[in-house]
Amino acid sequence: MEEELLRLQKAAHEDLAALSEIKELEPFRVKYLGRKSEFTSLMRQLGSVPKEDRPRLGKLANEIKVDLEEKFSARKSELEQSAAGPSDSLESDLTLPGRAIPFGKLHPVTQIMEEICSIFEGMGFGVAEGPDVETDFYNFEALNIPKHHPARDMHDTFYINESLLLRTHTSPMQARIMENQEPPLRMIAPGKVYRCDSDITHTPMFHQVEGFLVDKKVSFADLRGILGVFISKMFDENTAMRARPSFFPFTEPSAEIDIACVMCGGKGCRVCKHTGWLEILGAGMIDPEVFKQVGYDPEVYSGFAFGLGVERIAMLKYGINDIRLYYENDLRFLSQF
Ligand code: DAH
Repeated sequence: MEEELLRLQKAAHEDLAALSEIKELEPFRVKYLGRKSEFTSLMRQLGSVPKEDRPRLGKLANEIKVDLEEKFSARKSELEQSAAGPSDSLESDLTLPGRAIPFGKLHPVTQIMEEICSIFEGMGFGVAEGPDVETDFYNFEALNIPKHHPARDMHDTFYINESLLLRTHTSPMQARIMENQEPPLRMIAPGKVYRCDSDITHTPMFHQVEGFLVDKKVSFADLRGILGVFISKMFDENTAMRARPSFFPFTEPSAEIDIACVMCGGKGCRVCKHTGWLEILGAGMIDPEVFKQVGYDPEVYSGFAFGLGVERIAMLKYGINDIRLYYENDLRFLSQF
């Protein structure tokens, strides 16, 4: 009996050392520690050994059982740990390169907004920001858009109450700045704007940069000059531009500014709907009515203004066809910028 027990213990030690996979653990347990194992049947036979040998053999059998159980559970946790991946112990391969720390980046819209601002700052424009929650007065009235004016329809306004709303454009900053400062003035106002509109080219919140310049004898040629510099810095050096007649209540005359299509260079393609041109901003000479609202004499001063959509510029610059990509927070998209 004693020999049998010791032989079994030795065999179990050898088998255990040879175990290399988690799936081999259970068969081992069944073979050596299970209810039908050779070891269990030896334990049962203890009852029939001579009385004087029983205590000694019983003690030995118990010691072997505890020994096997301990060694088995130690081996089990070893195998489980190595299956879970490399440990942080000193046995790690110290020559492996360290893990790179991923750096965050500015959102592409923020990057373009900063680029736009720095181009205008380079031409001497100051930067000002204003409230997203705006009054009806600054968003509309002060910009020559009285109540019931049809131009209000274009704005898809989110109203908060009778007199408060989420600004639909950054143009109210013209009135806010002009009523507190005297010409000469050249300012830009970047920020968020809101419209109840959503499809592949519209999101309910987007960004605009408003710009304006007021002084004596400012002409449409100055507007063209400034925008020409902006376009050549923002896009390709020799990007062609054109001004198309348009209407805005706060500028007279008004224009929409197009650039030669950035995809086809003006030959005509799907992006420019085969016209060769892409609209990038609205602009014009500040309407005398706006000057009167802020107390400037339109006989003395003149000025131009423009407003551009930041997402649109970024879409053209990067060749993005769905504006919603900016706001889905998909890192596969965002990390490309
Ligand atoms: N505020 C206009 C809009 O959101 C854009 C605009 C057009 C701004 C002409 C201007 C301007 O300053 O002169 O659609």
